Amino acid sequence: MAKQIIQLTERRTWNALAAHYDGVARMHLRKLFADDPKRGERMTVEGAGLYLDYSKNRITYETLQLLLQLADESGLRRRIDAMFRGDKINITENRAVLHVALRAPIGASIVVDGENVVPAVHAVLDRMADLSNRLRSGEWKGHTGKRIRNVINVGIGGSDLGPVMAYEALKRYSDRAMTFRFVSNVDATDFAEAVQDLDPEETLFIISSKTFTTLETMTNAHSAREWLLATVRGGEKSIAQHFVAVSTNRAEVAKFGIDTANMFGFWDWVGGRYSMDSAIGLSTMIAIGPDNFRSMLGGFHVMDEHFRTAPFERNLPVLMGLLAVWYSDFFGAQTAAVLPYEQYLKRFPAYLQQLTMESNGKQVTLDGTGVKYDTGAIYWGEPGTNGQHSFYQLIHQGTRLIPCDFIAFSKTLNPLGRHHDMLVANVFAQAEALAFGKTAEEVKAEGTPDWLVPHRVFQGNRPSNTILADRLTPESLGKLVALYEHSVFTQGVIWNVDSFDQWGVELGKILAQRIIPELESKAEPALNHDSSTNNLIRRYRRSKEEL
Ligand code: F6P
Repeated sequence: MAKQIIQLTERRTWNALAAHYDGVARMHLRKLFADDPKRGERMTVEGAGLYLDYSKNRITYETLQLLLQLADESGLRRRIDAMFRGDKINITENRAVLHVALRAPIGASIVVDGENVVPAVHAVLDRMADLSNRLRSGEWKGHTGKRIRNVINVGIGGSDLGPVMAYEALKRYSDRAMTFRFVSNVDATDFAEAVQDLDPEETLFIISSKTFTTLETMTNAHSAREWLLATVRGGEKSIAQHFVAVSTNRAEVAKFGIDTANMFGFWDWVGGRYSMDSAIGLSTMIAIGPDNFRSMLGGFHVMDEHFRTAPFERNLPVLMGLLAVWYSDFFGAQTAAVLPYEQYLKRFPAYLQQLTMESNGKQVTLDGTGVKYDTGAIYWGEPGTNGQHSFYQLIHQGTRLIPCDFIAFSKTLNPLGRHHDMLVANVFAQAEALAFGKTAEEVKAEGTPDWLVPHRVFQGNRPSNTILADRLTPESLGKLVALYEHSVFTQGVIWNVDSFDQWGVELGKILAQRIIPELESKAEPALNHDSSTNNLIRRYRRSKEEL
């Protein structure tokens, strides 16, 4: 019998929060800090080696209590346990959600359909390590006997964003004698530019696709095969030394012509956007080596354990997830900015976009009824300090409320003069300016003419989190990614949505399959779309024929 699910908006605490919000919305962070001189020490938490200062949020201790109560009422503890236990919590696809098993230590036991999956995870890791070592040492050679110097990951979405982000983040740990590229877009420019200066005889393609049917990835994979075969004479036989696959679909891998001995598997309980620490991370492991990859997994695991065991009031992902709900649903914030003050994390916001928006961009609850509240915010961001000279103007003085996550490291990987102190000074300064602003009196006291004063006032009261870690390492990257994974999970539990499906990407894919032959056919096709789409198709067909 279907279980009666209480709508979020009917929960007692939800309504208490709505009433409480009216008071908090009128409070200024200036006053909250003045009233409680220790707020900046009290509203902080350290867990799994990361330090979170959440004091510059528009909350009181009562807000926090209510949000924690909401988590309890929403069954967060039960849902965390269900995920870690391997229950099929991705209900629309009837799948377990076990990215946490990808970083479980070898002795652990996580059972799915009667089988402990941890040994299989480690068996794949060992095979990945073997391939990585053979490539890094030069033992694995191309078909003509040349050493492999270039690795190109071909994949899209979760089969691309994680690998690119991790490669960029951990470049400092990578083998600089090798070149790593990432091809994702079906736009041929992506492929053409990635290979234009590479020697096919020295190039290995990793075709990364969970399904091995994704249009973009398979189109690029076929182009890669043609590019290789045009130079490396040896026909199909040469494929074995230049192509490996990462997939859950053995049959399609074999059909493509890749030796399944060179296939690295994962499982349906790993969602694409949660797969960077599965075999999808093969390019990462080749770049940074198996030991570094394992220490990244170690970092993930430390955060998993923190999330699983820490009391909610000291649980970083829980606190961040609850604050995200607070801003989305009570303050009506449409977006959230992620601002890493670490150049190596330049692709982290793009990675988070898929993680957060594909997970919680949902409009129905688990029981299929429409939500009566806002769900996932729009995530975006750029590394500091670049953003400061671009969009920060709107965050400081615009009309919209944009909660920010600042991410910084105490130690730099590239010590150079005063750079790092300047970088970190900017993180602290931005969070301070956003929170406390500058009043008209303060502006006037600087001798500003009256007419200019309103332009130079900073209202402040703009919320942010500051996340501090010691140094960007494979381990701290793992912790940071897991922090956001579990924050996304927390939000999804409160909103009562399935954070692990992505039906919203299907319709466009199907329509594209219908339009492709209409663009390609020699004869004028009979078009049955709306008048706009029909017209665009006709116009494109006409202009592609013109010289
Ligand atoms: O765009 C939807 C999606 O299914 C993502 O969830 C996934 O990460 C991506 O496509 C790539 O899928 P695959 O790994 O199967 O090629």
